[in-house]
Amino acid sequence: MEHTWDDVDTYLEDLLVPQDEALAAARESSARTTMPHAAVSPAQGRFLALLAQAAGARRVLELGTLAGYSTIWFARAVGPDGRVTTLELEEANAAVARENLERAGVADRVDVVVGPAAASAQRLVDDGVEAFDLVFVDADKPSNPQYLRLALELTRPGSLIVVDNVVRAGAVADAGSDDPRVLGSRRVLADVAADDRLEATVLQTVGGKGWDGFALVRRVR
Ligand code: DHB
Ligand code: MG
Repeated sequence: MEHTWDDVDTYLEDLLVPQDEALAAARESSARTTMPHAAVSPAQGRFLALLAQAAGARRVLELGTLAGYSTIWFARAVGPDGRVTTLELEEANAAVARENLERAGVADRVDVVVGPAAASAQRLVDDGVEAFDLVFVDADKPSNPQYLRLALELTRPGSLIVVDNVVRAGAVADAGSDDPRVLGSRRVLADVAADDRLEATVLQTVGGKGWDGFALVRRVR
């Protein structure tokens, strides 16, 4: 089955998701990060960019940079007057990302902030930065509930919050799971459900990255 998903991703990406050299190089450089296979797929990168453009996003916050592949999609989506802030735990990954952002011609509109994402996001809160239009949560999965709380301090009514990897090959539906990443998914979705400021759904995805999904959350007020 996964073979078929891969073939369909390849077909769709060849047809619909042209990748220039900078995107291709960023994908390849993922091999030099601490998590070689975690970047979003090309089709997913295009999806995130379309979402940012549809939302008219000018300010995007990303938690989890790695090689900066999704960062490039967001940076291009916000345009030359937009701004992307991306939070990365590892200096070595951030160095790879900066090279990729430079090659993609978007380094001047991206801030790569090194350190634990929760601490970096809290610093943005403390600094009173302008609200973000879209927050993409794609860092360590057990911390997702904490990342949602921080995202709510860094957004405004109308902002979107997208959480990657919440389906986890279906494990999200396993109420008995003791996998901390699954617990992170289940907790963050329960928190979203219980918050009357938020409207949300989860779109399951298949493709080159197997079976997973994005939580799409809109802050109503
Ligand atoms: C993993 C993390 C990701 O963000 C992803 O998209 C895929 C896999 C991981 O933790 O392995
Ligand atoms: Mg991810």
